[in-house]
Amino acid sequence: YSAHYYYQVMKDNGFPLTEDEKMIYGHFRKEFIWSTATASYQIEGGWRADGKGLSIWDKFAHTPLKVFNDDNGDIACDSYNKIDEDVAILKQLKVTHYRFFISWSRVLPDGTTSHINEAGLSYYDRLVKALLAANIQPHITLYHWDLPQALQDIGGWENDDIVGKFRDYADLIFSRLGHNVKHWITINEPYNIAMVGHGYGVAAPGINFRPGTLPYIVGHNLIKAHAEVWHLYNDKYRAVQKGIISITINSDWSEPRNPYKQEDIDAARRVVQFYIGWFAHPIYNGDYSDVMKTIIRERSLAAGLTKSRLPEFTPDEIKRIKGTYDYFGFNHYTTVLAFPVNFGDLSHYDADRQARTVVDRTWLDSGSGWLKITPFGFRRILNFIKEEYGNPPIIITENGVSERGPIDLNDNHRTYHYEKYINQVLKAYLQDNVDIRGYTAWSLMDNLEWATGFSERFGLFYVNHSDPNVPRVKKASVSTYSTIISCNGFPD
Ligand code: NOJ
Repeated sequence: YSAHYYYQVMKDNGFPLTEDEKMIYGHFRKEFIWSTATASYQIEGGWRADGKGLSIWDKFAHTPLKVFNDDNGDIACDSYNKIDEDVAILKQLKVTHYRFFISWSRVLPDGTTSHINEAGLSYYDRLVKALLAANIQPHITLYHWDLPQALQDIGGWENDDIVGKFRDYADLIFSRLGHNVKHWITINEPYNIAMVGHGYGVAAPGINFRPGTLPYIVGHNLIKAHAEVWHLYNDKYRAVQKGIISITINSDWSEPRNPYKQEDIDAARRVVQFYIGWFAHPIYNGDYSDVMKTIIRERSLAAGLTKSRLPEFTPDEIKRIKGTYDYFGFNHYTTVLAFPVNFGDLSHYDADRQARTVVDRTWLDSGSGWLKITPFGFRRILNFIKEEYGNPPIIITENGVSERGPIDLNDNHRTYHYEKYINQVLKAYLQDNVDIRGYTAWSLMDNLEWATGFSERFGLFYVNHSDPNVPRVKKASVSTYSTIISCNGFPD
């Protein structure tokens, strides 16, 4: 392991290792889920194939200057035509599970069940069967950011009709694929859908009008839509299909910039409550947290509004949403340092949490500006989830690292990242008794990294995006990850 080498060098040079840096040895639980993930728009291509409808990402990426280099997902990794290749590289990795997203607009071109695109459904049916034949379990995401454009045209996630539409779409997928699928995710990263798509506007649908208001409305509908689909599965399918279903929430970990200053400690807590807590609190504890409710209400009234910009759940809704999980689906990448600021205006969402974040300049870089390699934060946020949300079973549904620049198949930074981050997960499991059931590497292969296009590469496998016929090539980290999988952890 490269990490071992690094430690040796540190020790030889007389640098004592901190508790954070020390590697531990041991295994994960027996039935541990070892997975890797992708999402349809990022890999499939086939944007008009066989009757697929237009999606918000088709529209966004075809708008000049929205995506770096004007890249788009028209062809991407051509996975729509490469089921066999994809399954072959999954087998090389030795994963037990594969997490992917069904493209809503491929299956329902106008978003509603009034027209079902059988050819689109057949792609997923063939993929699921090929996975099962390779002894890999599918872990399906129902919504990973790419809405049928026809639904966006009637308001998308801002319009609460979306709740029923999402339920109908999920009903179709459960009824057609559910007999072969045991693991489901309703919605991937609601925070980013609300904030990046409807606050900053740098992801589809690209709205940054009313940034201090719209993300909360969108977030509210996402939570309700998730809960309805969980209940649908629970009431209608679970007894026969016997699967598990939850939402996947993403969050950075946040530390005080100055650990000796109470204001910074408070700011770091607010950042976490406004991030993971925004979605986890209603689902795992019931209703939005008091911190969010109080701060947003006070700031709304102070600005002369008659009520809070954060919508309210009715008591019945609070009850219906609370407990709609079978596990805690969690995506995590990085850590930030927080300190307080006082924003007077309401023009920005970040204003409400009254905090700004920075990073430590000594932290290792990745190919993504927002992602510093900070393994220690992983263990801390896993412990936070355990304490704050009643020790739920956790499946890590994404974690990984990117690079940019010239192609180099010797991706030492990724080997380092996986060893260090997965080792922190092991510490959380063995030493802190966090109930961790699985780990998913993002991503199986280089793909369209949303607004940064193909310039940021998260893949374990390299993909040539100029020529879809060039086979996928493994990077050096493939052997690292598959060794960790084969050992089910880190043997002595
Ligand atoms: C989160 C998203 O779910 C995924 O689509 C994205 O590519 C990765 N993080 C990396 O940014």
